[in-house]
Amino acid sequence: MRHVMSPLDFSTEELDQLLDLANDIEKDPEKYAHACEGKRLATLFYEPSTRTRLSFEAAMMALGGKVLGFSSADSSSASKGESVADTIRTVSCFAHIAAIRHPKEGAPLVASMASKIPVINAGDGGHQHPTQTLTDLLTIRSLKGRLNNLTIGLCGDLKFGRTVHSLIEALVRYENVKFILISPEELRVPSYIRDDVLRANHKDFQEVIRLEDALPQLDLLYMTRVQRERFFNEEDYVRMKDFYILDKAKMDLAPDHMLVLHPLPRVNEISVEVDSDPRAAYFKQVQYGMYVRMALILTLLEVKVC
Ligand code: CP
Repeated sequence: MRHVMSPLDFSTEELDQLLDLANDIEKDPEKYAHACEGKRLATLFYEPSTRTRLSFEAAMMALGGKVLGFSSADSSSASKGESVADTIRTVSCFAHIAAIRHPKEGAPLVASMASKIPVINAGDGGHQHPTQTLTDLLTIRSLKGRLNNLTIGLCGDLKFGRTVHSLIEALVRYENVKFILISPEELRVPSYIRDDVLRANHKDFQEVIRLEDALPQLDLLYMTRVQRERFFNEEDYVRMKDFYILDKAKMDLAPDHMLVLHPLPRVNEISVEVDSDPRAAYFKQVQYGMYVRMALILTLLEVKVC
């Protein structure tokens, strides 16, 4: 039995296989429509979500399986003090696989240690969001045709943005990927990302404050929102929240081939006028999220479709 806590739980060869499977599902969804008949996915969400929870549920339904779960801690026995370990022991009696989102870093890992079914980390605090990274990798590979030879700008809340941490960890394994980290001083990437991930892998990276300076150099711009829920006080959030706003004027500084990704939800950091730009790929990214979660469920349940 295999759990997924981080994108590094897969080798690059395994990631290629997973992304190939997701692309095959995209091409011929009918072929997979009954692959998980009789199987149940539990979505245990202790934190709010639209895309991750619904795309997991849509993925299992598109595979012919069923879903059960809860969408907030308040509506589960966590509100009575039940631990995640006891919750997953219970859910192991009802489901074949579980996706867990939790505000505390490491909670899905704790659950996996008590689980009798595969557990997928669907986002743990400010730490990791591996299935968003699978989504991002599939989007980049599908739309750019490669995961190497890219200059990627990551912009916004690089301190608390778990999608950024997971994506950097995944991309350092590919050749000639350069990173431009665009953030205000207070929201720079954590030092473990800078030292243990980027420097330790001898990656070319720069940290800049002005988005305008980075834009002309980029193959990809990965925008993120400021993570209000992880700030200690509202005043700091209000000061930071509109630090970056990508609008038409800024898009004019970017190359024609640059794609804009965003894990969503968006607040103000991408102006809606950018949505009609052919380089805006963040809603396509959402669609890829369902295909890659279908591929992940099939892989963890060891279901083969010929
Ligand atoms: N990208 C993402 O995790 O979105 P949700 O919070 O809506 O799941």
